[in-house]
Amino acid sequence: KMEDEPMMFVRQAHSGKPLSKVTVVGTGQVGMACAFSLVSQGITNEVALVDVFKDKLTGEVMDLQQGAAFTPSVKVYGSTDYAVTKDSKICIITAGARQKEGETRLQLIEKNVQILKHAVPELLKYSPNAILLLVTNPVDVLTYCAWKISGRPVGSVIGTGTSLDTGRLKFLIAEKIDISPKNIHIWIIGEHGDNSVPVWSRLQVGGVNIQELNHPSGIKDPKSLDDLHMAVVNSAYDIIKLKGYTSWAIGLNVADICRSILHNSRRIHALSTLVKGFHGVEDEVFASLPCVLDTNGISRVIPLKINDDEEAKFTKATKTLHEVQKTTGL
Ligand code: NAD
Ligand code: LAC
Repeated sequence: KMEDEPMMFVRQAHSGKPLSKVTVVGTGQVGMACAFSLVSQGITNEVALVDVFKDKLTGEVMDLQQGAAFTPSVKVYGSTDYAVTKDSKICIITAGARQKEGETRLQLIEKNVQILKHAVPELLKYSPNAILLLVTNPVDVLTYCAWKISGRPVGSVIGTGTSLDTGRLKFLIAEKIDISPKNIHIWIIGEHGDNSVPVWSRLQVGGVNIQELNHPSGIKDPKSLDDLHMAVVNSAYDIIKLKGYTSWAIGLNVADICRSILHNSRRIHALSTLVKGFHGVEDEVFASLPCVLDTNGISRVIPLKINDDEEAKFTKATKTLHEVQKTTGL
């Protein structure tokens, strides 16, 4: 009898937390690594993609949509028109030029500021309360520019900053001492890339300070620590020489940042934010420090205790960034 049949095909209410839409601007190597990480891990249930290059965008959207049978339930769509981004909770900006072999991040500034001047107002037109997450390089300077262009509260304009550098260093230390990177506590602060500052004085492995760590690898030897930091600084140059760009680690990193925001997690990430007032910085400059992420973006900067040498390096990095910021006229 039809009346007794169970109701088939009725869509079940979503049982988990309500998730929110994420936009990715730029469907190049980095944008697609971000989108793939978000979709494959089901961090959001809606991803909108925007690019100026229509064929590439359409191809990427089709390719990612066709994985739907194998992923958590996520809607993916895209357009060259920003209307597609309407009501986004987070807008990730990856559009723009990347370094050619040997080029530095700071050399990309002019082209990429122009892109922001168009993209940021378009994004805010459709999602006035969105959190802007900057990935395009030079990421610290561009985060400052996006903040200025947007007029949004400082905590809602975030740069991935040294979260990638910190992740790279955790990986390298983890390999050396054969412990999970999740149990290595270390921060890289300052500028993403060339002037990054490892805070060795705060390195702990499972709660054990570096000076108390008697590992046969000799990890606590200053030369060994210096080599590890140089490997982090050279990572992008080395990878770009080998494969032309970096993508997977930053894609996973961005997805992890989005998870913290969408799940209101209050986890701490090393992110680019306004650092005026911290460690003696007087300039209105963006650089990375450990930041607490919640549903509104960065809610707090952690007052990390660092030694004099680390503070001097941090100050130097912020001075360099401030000089470049000034050239943008913003
Ligand atoms: P890519 O060349 O593969 O992709 C860039 C994309 O941006 C292209 O698809 C292009 O069509 C699009 N684009 C250009 N102008 C646009 C506009 N006005 N609006 C919308 N889309 C536009 O480059 P990539 O390898 O994906 O790198 C992107 C950026 O990310 C670079 O600046 C790179 O240096 C940076 N990056 C940052 C980090 C980090 O840790 N912050 C890590 C890796 C790469
Ligand atoms: C990185 C980019 C290029 O992978 O900034 O570090």
